[in-house]
Amino acid sequence: NGTAGGTATARAFPNIALVKYWGKRDEAVMLPAAGSLSLTLDAYATTTAVTLDASAASDRFELNGEAQAGDRLRRVTRFLDLVRERSGSTARALVRSHNEAPTGAGLASSASGFAALATAASAAYGLPGDPASLSRLARRGSGSAARSIIPGVSVWHAGDGDETSFAEPVPAPEMRMVIVTVDERQKAISSREAMRLTALTSPFYPAWVASTEQSLEAMLEACRDGDFTRIGRITESHALRMHAVIQSADPPVRYLAPTSIAVFDAVSALRDRGVEAYATADAGPNVCVVVRPAEAEAVADELRGFGRVRVVGPGAGAELIDADP
Ligand code: PMV
Repeated sequence: NGTAGGTATARAFPNIALVKYWGKRDEAVMLPAAGSLSLTLDAYATTTAVTLDASAASDRFELNGEAQAGDRLRRVTRFLDLVRERSGSTARALVRSHNEAPTGAGLASSASGFAALATAASAAYGLPGDPASLSRLARRGSGSAARSIIPGVSVWHAGDGDETSFAEPVPAPEMRMVIVTVDERQKAISSREAMRLTALTSPFYPAWVASTEQSLEAMLEACRDGDFTRIGRITESHALRMHAVIQSADPPVRYLAPTSIAVFDAVSALRDRGVEAYATADAGPNVCVVVRPAEAEAVADELRGFGRVRVVGPGAGAELIDADP
């Protein structure tokens, strides 16, 4: 399935963190400073085919039909170097990827991208295809990709080394997310750079890391109890803490736009009217609102004035598929 004549194709979805990953303990092996928890979505898929080419001198990477060079190609090659080192193969590859989400706008296209690439490359180069191995490998491409290997809600354990830092499923109550796309443009500063800057310069960074560990513990308990309200409350306060620590870097970084803040205010007003909605945002201006399934469409209608809205739910983990990107 998904593997034929030296080609393997995989599909993966982005994930939105309810407890965020922001900061690395080890950049070389991509260990996070704290654990995190997210929902893998059922929309904005990345489909990636990896075809080995023993006669090629270098890797090639096509994204949405366009040949890529520079940083994007280097990131793929660096990732494939790790796969080659582990598999003992020296073959270069053609990587063809199709992304349904706008790239680099805080909708976690790097998560779906590296989860799909890890899954397809592991099959093409003959590496283990179990979820824990794929999650560890995807982590090396982009930290949050570790969670896109897993369907639905997952926790990414910080771990104390490569072996122990991977994501696994967490049982959780049914929920939906209303994604409000405020701005589709590529963000000005990558999460990688901004994380580094936050860790090096924010006086609040140690408190952020400690509070993330507490939020994760509380979130895991709320998931176990099926307590939607508590999940929502932790989600929103934790997201605002992340944006606070990012803004406290020197020089400061701000991802939220005035419209993003307006969405947070609208969500708070909905709560005042008895609708349980809770907002979060990743490293970009777009806002994701966590809601109960029965209220998703009504909340989406309320938020249409702020940008394009889309209701998404829990999606599949990364999988090998037969289709072509
Ligand atoms: O894996 P990266 O480098 O794309 O970082 C993701 C960071 C956030 O999306 C802001 C938080 C998270 O946990 O996904």
